[in-house]
Amino acid sequence: MEVGAGVAYWAMLLSRMGVDVVAYDLHPPPSATNQWFADTMPWHPVECRDIDVVAQHPDRTLLMIWPTKNEDWPGDALLAFLEAGGEWLVYVGEGPGGRSGDDRFHSLLGSIDRCYPCDYGIDAQCVCDVSRNWRRHLTVEIPTWDGCDDRLELYQALGSAARAGPANPIPSVRRRALEALLRRPRRR
Ligand SMILES: C[S@@+](CC[C@H](N)C(=O)[O-])C[C@H]1O[C@@H](n2cnc3c(N)ncnc32)[C@H](O)[C@@H]1O
Repeated sequence: MEVGAGVAYWAMLLSRMGVDVVAYDLHPPPSATNQWFADTMPWHPVECRDIDVVAQHPDRTLLMIWPTKNEDWPGDALLAFLEAGGEWLVYVGEGPGGRSGDDRFHSLLGSIDRCYPCDYGIDAQCVCDVSRNWRRHLTVEIPTWDGCDDRLELYQALGSAARAGPANPIPSVRRRALEALLRRPRRR
């Protein structure tokens, strides 16, 4: 399940591999209200839905690719998915302070380990009340545009590891889809 899918390029690649994938965006392209992809036809069907839709698919892996920088919705999606019992997350984007997600989003993922604004007086978003609730299993280097520092990361919800079993925490079907996807060059 991809949210904030834009033109859903990765959803299309996954679908071609036989993965059952659904894609959502608040402003599905080619809508003129999509500031990135107005007048651009999507690669894969994209339904018009807000991030509330994640609560309907806790059984799916949540896919978030370059979620908007410094907006609330990426963190809200993580919390709603977790609350609904969601377990697996694939994030493609930059790290804390980069061009995707906000500090709350990266704190939930565990990529920010303290509240720098409060500890060092930095003018930034306070994350004192944000608890890490995801565990990173994998970081995979991917082809990037010049000047971009994005990567793919696979996360599992904290507290759910016991359900997955200790020997191979990543279900084999997800592992195969991920490996196949990563062998393909990515163009944007
Ligand atoms: C930076 S673009 C990334 C699009 C795509 N994932 C990619 O990597 O090309 C962010 C996308 O999130 C969508 N978006 C913004 N707010 C949203 C919300 N509350 N719920 C769902 N999608 C949203 C935008 O319409 C836009 O398509």
